[in-house]
Order: sequence, then C-alpha cells, then structure tokens
Amino acid sequence: MRMEIDEARLSRELDELAKFSAAPAPAVTRVVYSPEERAARAYVKQLCRRLNLEVRDDAVGNTFARLPGSEPALPAIATGSHIDAIPNAGRFDGTVGVLGGLAAIRAIKAAALRPRRSIELIAFAAEEPTRFGIGCFSSRMLAGTLTAEAAAGLRDRVGRTLDELRAEAGYTAPLDSVRLPEGYYGAFLELHIEQGPRLDRSGTKVGIVTAIAAPASLLIDVEGEGGHAGAVLMAERRDALCAAAEIVLAAETAAKASGARDTVATIGICDVFPGAVNSIPSRVTLSLDVRDIDEGRRDGVLAAIAEACEETAARRGVEARTAVINKDAPAACDSRVMNALTMGAARHNRAHIRMVSRAYHDALFMARIAPTGMLFIPCRDGVSHRPDEYASPEDIAIGATVLAEALAELANDPE
Ligand code: HGY
Ligand code: MN
Ligand code: MN
Repeated sequence: MRMEIDEARLSRELDELAKFSAAPAPAVTRVVYSPEERAARAYVKQLCRRLNLEVRDDAVGNTFARLPGSEPALPAIATGSHIDAIPNAGRFDGTVGVLGGLAAIRAIKAAALRPRRSIELIAFAAEEPTRFGIGCFSSRMLAGTLTAEAAAGLRDRVGRTLDELRAEAGYTAPLDSVRLPEGYYGAFLELHIEQGPRLDRSGTKVGIVTAIAAPASLLIDVEGEGGHAGAVLMAERRDALCAAAEIVLAAETAAKASGARDTVATIGICDVFPGAVNSIPSRVTLSLDVRDIDEGRRDGVLAAIAEACEETAARRGVEARTAVINKDAPAACDSRVMNALTMGAARHNRAHIRMVSRAYHDALFMARIAPTGMLFIPCRDGVSHRPDEYASPEDIAIGATVLAEALAELANDPE
C-alpha cells in the first residue's frame, strides 16, 4: 500500500508550532527551557499521544515517541530533529524534521505496515547554541560526547545552570541517565531544510546528505585598557575593540585563504565592555564559529586565527585569550541509510542529488552511536536563521514521504 502524507495537516501543525515564539510572527524565537519552548514541546507531545505513540522525556528534555514494532526487542529505527529556534529565526529549521517525522510515522501506521523494528521520533531538547553557547548539547549527551559531569557545568549568559533550568521545566532524573547504550538504535534519519541554495536553485526536491561539516566554536576575550573617550590621546590607548576589529577581519581573511569554498568563519557575537559612548572599550568578547567539511583544513584556519590574535595583541599591547567550546569531527553518513533514502525517492519518482551539509545537526552526534543519514528539502533562496525562511507545504510533504519509505524499509531490514 502506498504511503500518503497529509500535506494540509502537516502544514497546519507547522503553523500551529510556529505560534509558540518569543518573537512576533513571521520571526520565531524559541530557546530551550523558555516558556514558549515548553509550550511548543507540550504541543508536539500532544500530537504524538493522539497517534497513540509511547511518549517519554529524558533528564534534559529530549522527547521520544515510539511506534512499537512487531519485534520490539530489536534496536529501533529513529528519526527526528529539534524544535528550539535561535533569536529572530524562521519556522522550518528543525520543526520540519520533527513534525515531518511524525507525519511519516502516521503514514506508516495508516498503511498498516506493522514494521518489525519499532520506529521512534526524537524531538531533541536543544540543537541551537543559544542557551549554553554550545550546539547540540542534548544529542551530545545522548551520544556520550558530552559527559553528565561536563553538562552539569553548563551555564547560560546570566549564569543559570542546566540543573536549575531543567528542574524548572520538570526534568529531575540524574544527568547520567541521558546517555544511550551502544547499539540502542539500528539507524537514525533526520529530515531538514537544506539551509543553503543548491536544491532550490537546481529545482531538485530531494537532497541526500553524504557528510556533515565539522564545526568548531570558540570564545575570544580581548583585554585592553579603558578610559575617558576625550582625555586619553590616541598614542596612549590600548583599545580592546580596535584590536578585536582586527581579529574579526583576520578570521574572515583566514577562511577565504583556506583554498577551499567549503571553509567558513563567522563572528556572531561581539560583547563590548563597558559599552558606553564616551568610554574606551576595555574588554571585548567575540564568538568564533569555523567550519569545513575537511577537519584538517578547518584546524589550519583556527591556527591562522590564533596567530593573528597573538600578533595583534602584541602590537597593540592588549591581551587576547581564546577558549575552545567545541571542535568536532565531521560525520560520514551511512551507505545503507543513504540507499534507503535513495530508494524512497525513486519509489516516488523524485530526482535527488547527493550533497554535504554545511550546517551541523543533531545527526552529527547521532552518527557517533548509530548508522545515520539526512534528507534535505529545498528552502527558498537557501535562506535560513531568518524570519523569511520558507519551505513549501508540497516540498515538506515530499520530504516526509521519502522519509516514511526509508523508515519502513529500514524497520523491516533483516540486518
Ligand atoms: O548552526 C548550525 O549549523 C545549526 O543550524 N544550528
Ligand atoms: Mn539552526
Ligand atoms: Mn536545524
């Protein structure tokens, strides 16, 4: 029996989910453990319960919704993504993989396929770095790459700890219960908007991801000397912001000079202290995000930026300290999972292209513990992390349909 996705219903659910936001529409802001994120999660769980899935949360708020298979002792096949959103973001980043994953499970159930393996939807607690400064903290914990001890040390920008925030949201189980045992899942698949222009520009509806880029993020603290904007002569200054400005441009230059178009570097945060019109900045904190599909090349860019920090600091008489937040290896997607996605696209006569993911995703960490694959759908002009992010109901339904076929295939795979 062919699997059908109810396109209109999926579109309505995405519209409903977008309403849970700290920002006025069309922007979406939904930071983990905020009131709007907790309400959004409750809404998603309500949809899962309506489908009679077995729903549970773990100690940090990862939500799991399971369709039991005929042989429930076998490792389940998982799919999912995130519902948190950075400030002033769009409504499709992450949510397409959660509600599209639910729609795929709904289609499998409606087709009465009764797969051997259970199929489990995951709505990860937080994929975005907004709250704690590190991306994917909750899927890192599932994979064991972020230990319970290290997670206990996470604090947000106003000093609130993970334990305080999660307890307020009702999650009180011990942090060391989050990590999943080896082999817990037979495979993991994530449906996501491309967050790049390739599919949209080529008119292709399906992207099958071959590898996920290696992200690194650091904080750079520049310490100079403050003073009166009128009284201190230019020759006597040790202005932290002028030094930081040179470092920002050095990061851009290093990425452009890497020799590859896959290398990207971004300074997204620049906190200036004391931040007064007539006071020379004494301290600046920069966030640095560097990525590449090639880990060695990425680390070469990090080294070049570190050198520029040292040279600028020495010449300007300031101090520049860097602190690494994360430096992750890239992930290769699993061929069996990619083939299942290819078969799913072929079953619905959908052309596809194989491509790398320049954004990171929870799949980057799920790939540490399960054979993993990703499926991209187009987003208009490749725009993402902006209120004008857009994916059409038709393209979202195509993605969910291909996902449903791949999940059903893998859930009945004798391997
Ligand atoms: O930054 C990323 O790649 C992801 O969208 N959080
Ligand atoms: Mn994102
Ligand atoms: Mn995302």
